[in-house]
Amino acid sequence: MHVHILVRTALLLVSSVTVNADVTTTIDPKSNWGAWEGWGTSLAWWAQQFGQRDDLADVFFTLGQTQVNGQSLPGLGFNIVRYNAGACSWNAVGGESMVVSKNVKRSRQMEGFWVDWTNADPASSSWNWSVDVNQRAALQKAIDRGADRTELFSNSPMWWMTKNHNPSGASDGSENIQSWNLEQHAIYIATVAKAFKDKWGIQFGSVDPFNEPTANWWKADGTQEGCHINVATQATIIGHLQTQLNNRGLSTVISASDESYYDQALSTLQNLGSSAISKIARVNVHGYQSGSGDRAGLRALATKSGKALWNSEYGDGVATGADLARYLLQDMRTLKPTAWVYWQVLDGGGWGLIDANNDDGTLGSATQKYFVLAQFARHMRPGMQILDGGRDNVVAAYDASQSKLVIVAVNWDNAQYINFELSGFSGRPSAGSKVTRWLTQIGSGDRYVQYSDTTISGTRFWSYFEKNVVQTFEVTGVRL
Ligand SMILES: *[C@@H]1O[C@H](CO)[C@@H](O)[C@H](O)[C@H]1NC(C)=O
Repeated sequence: MHVHILVRTALLLVSSVTVNADVTTTIDPKSNWGAWEGWGTSLAWWAQQFGQRDDLADVFFTLGQTQVNGQSLPGLGFNIVRYNAGACSWNAVGGESMVVSKNVKRSRQMEGFWVDWTNADPASSSWNWSVDVNQRAALQKAIDRGADRTELFSNSPMWWMTKNHNPSGASDGSENIQSWNLEQHAIYIATVAKAFKDKWGIQFGSVDPFNEPTANWWKADGTQEGCHINVATQATIIGHLQTQLNNRGLSTVISASDESYYDQALSTLQNLGSSAISKIARVNVHGYQSGSGDRAGLRALATKSGKALWNSEYGDGVATGADLARYLLQDMRTLKPTAWVYWQVLDGGGWGLIDANNDDGTLGSATQKYFVLAQFARHMRPGMQILDGGRDNVVAAYDASQSKLVIVAVNWDNAQYINFELSGFSGRPSAGSKVTRWLTQIGSGDRYVQYSDTTISGTRFWSYFEKNVVQTFEVTGVRL
């Protein structure tokens, strides 16, 4: 069928590897799944420990080759950065002080700015603008390197706004914000946003006052900050937040509600009410429902409501990159977000892109997951038009300014050739033109290895994929 048939036959003869028949995927130039806004990370908790390091800012927020802990890594080029307004302070006020979960790690307690309830004036001693130096440094370093999408988010209201003064949650996981502090939480978020602008010249593009508010696992003995907030309460806080942003002359938009699951985000959006919905510019959802959940339903409702849609937090403990690749592909094809944000770039237990201990400050090496994400993030760049890649395991993006087509494909099956059919494009490179490719073996093995051995043949090109390989292709001279 192709010239490679002899190679393939030879390969079959010399190895016992099972090779599947070719598959062909057709990239659809008529499709348009939105203009890509970018990739990113949240800063809490890693930046509280590592936020002053320029090498880490370089490796995550530039595309340059960077030395980290003796390892040379291709930068991930993130342009989205999420800053966490903390909920903790260790002062006493009116005989009250923060109640601390017996299980919370210090690295997961984020220093909050509004340390007592006696005064809402940010110039008063009720506010401490000296806290959280390292996370602020990381934010500034990201912006200095080109991060152009900044978001302020909250895992819990300040401890003193909660019913039990515990920013990890209520004993039973129920709503933990005091009913008389809903406006105070909005004032907190808006005041922090204003202070970043005035004091440090940082204007957040968006604010999300919640984190996984429908979840029932934010409990008093939890391991991190968290707060269950009912949907009706969310709606009230969103109303207050819009007023408080307006009062301060901030054009920062509101995103919501950073629910854990696609199904929770869908339900929240269905029940938030038209007033609150009119005040949010974007739906933020997390990717913790993994392979389940109504991604398509959430996409449909976001579109119908005229809202942008981000996967604002994905994380997993699978260092091989297999889960990340699987659910990122599923998101790209079904949720169709315009941005995708990893939770903790530095963490232990397989969670980090680079292994690290955020409590003792030790830094390890990059996981295979780092390179799997590099296959996507270094090539599908902000401003590109996301295209239908034709199959579940293929995504594509088009860069009009450079007439460049990017394709990322994963082969979960036995080794096989995948043909990439470009016949629908009005302009294609001529036969023999080079296609550059990069390859990472999911699990262990090759890490972002570049090849220039692939060429256009007629209206297509093809490439051989071992099982569990992700490849990225860049084809230049393409017109939609
Ligand atoms: C403000 O926070 C800084 C940094 O944590 C701390 O050193 C300082 O004591 C705090 N100021 C007050 C008045 O508590």
